[in-house]
Amino acid sequence: MSPNTRPNVASLEVYEGGRSPELVRAELGLSGPLVELGANERPFPPDDFVLAAVYEAARQGHRYPDYTAKELRRALVGHLAEEEARWNRRCEVAEEQIVVGCGSSSLIQQLFLCYVSEGDEIVVPWPSYRPLLHNAQLCGAEVVRVGLVDETADLPAMLRAITPRTKVICLTNPNNPTSTAVERASVTAFLEQVPSDIVVLVDEAYVEYSAGELYGSAVHDLVHFGNLVVARTFSKTFGLAGFRVGFAVSNPAIVNDLRRVGFAFPVGNCAQAAALATVRSPQVLEAHLQRVLEERERVTRELRQLGWRVADSRTNFIWLPLGAPGASSDLARRLEAVGVVTRAFAEGLRVTIGTREENDVLLARLSELGPSLSSASRVESTLRS
Ligand SMILES: Cc1ncc(COP(=O)(O)O)c(C=O)c1O
Repeated sequence: MSPNTRPNVASLEVYEGGRSPELVRAELGLSGPLVELGANERPFPPDDFVLAAVYEAARQGHRYPDYTAKELRRALVGHLAEEEARWNRRCEVAEEQIVVGCGSSSLIQQLFLCYVSEGDEIVVPWPSYRPLLHNAQLCGAEVVRVGLVDETADLPAMLRAITPRTKVICLTNPNNPTSTAVERASVTAFLEQVPSDIVVLVDEAYVEYSAGELYGSAVHDLVHFGNLVVARTFSKTFGLAGFRVGFAVSNPAIVNDLRRVGFAFPVGNCAQAAALATVRSPQVLEAHLQRVLEERERVTRELRQLGWRVADSRTNFIWLPLGAPGASSDLARRLEAVGVVTRAFAEGLRVTIGTREENDVLLARLSELGPSLSSASRVESTLRS
């Protein structure tokens, strides 16, 4: 007897990430090492002091973890305040405004389960983070996709897309896959214009790579906007994608709702220990971040010299806009055949910034693949401008 799967669930596709190196190796019969630039992970593994903390936590592996992750939330209060203080800004977030989850993707799903019902609408810039579509479908909601301008979210158009049915607006800032970001002041002005009964999710998975005078987190806006939810992750800058830790910051009522629909013990004790050790070592974190930023600058410069159009990245990946049908997947396959895994989207190719050595391989392969490819990108750019 087949189970009566809920219609919303039966029509969902099972999540498929990018093409893993294992899959590419098996499919193409490759045996050598592959350069993995498809998943926006940090290219540097956790430091030894993080692993030592994990080992220590594993000794308590027979016990359930602290389901509220109190110590981690306390450390995050200090972390967020320091992050903003670097740019002479204030951030007053209390522990009860933070909720942790099994990656920020789980918190985003929790948010949908709390606020989105059958027939509602959600507004998203597009292209953006694909699981948003999945979550909307899960809840039976309609997705209103608002096209980008210059690869960047078009906030005025998103405001115009609001209807009485809109329940959640999602702003992925910086945006995945296009790597661009909206300035902080524009986000604040946007929040001022969104009706207060619509939840605004600002997904900041890559925000550390954009920090500065003009760009950065919306956490400081939380004091003014009770409908704002900021989602953050340990998977990117913190280098802990395999541990699965994320957090959301909002007002205590929303935090409480998110906890209502969450698992009982969303983050294991080893993952909490890894996150805590990382947050408590800001200099090490900063050193890793700077290495990625230096490489991002170099890769962008060199690709532009090769003739590619590259969006100004505020993330740990770069975006090659290639909207011609099949152009991006064609390039991705050609790169895979020479040992480089990237991620193809209908609108372009997303390439994670790797180590210097990995980036050298990417640049060499793109250069060998030749001027025909980069001129395809140039044509694309002319068509768009
Ligand atoms: C924009 C964005 N949001 C959220 C996530 C989810 O991250 P995680 O669930 O690993 O915390 C990702 C991961 O790629 C992302 O790109």
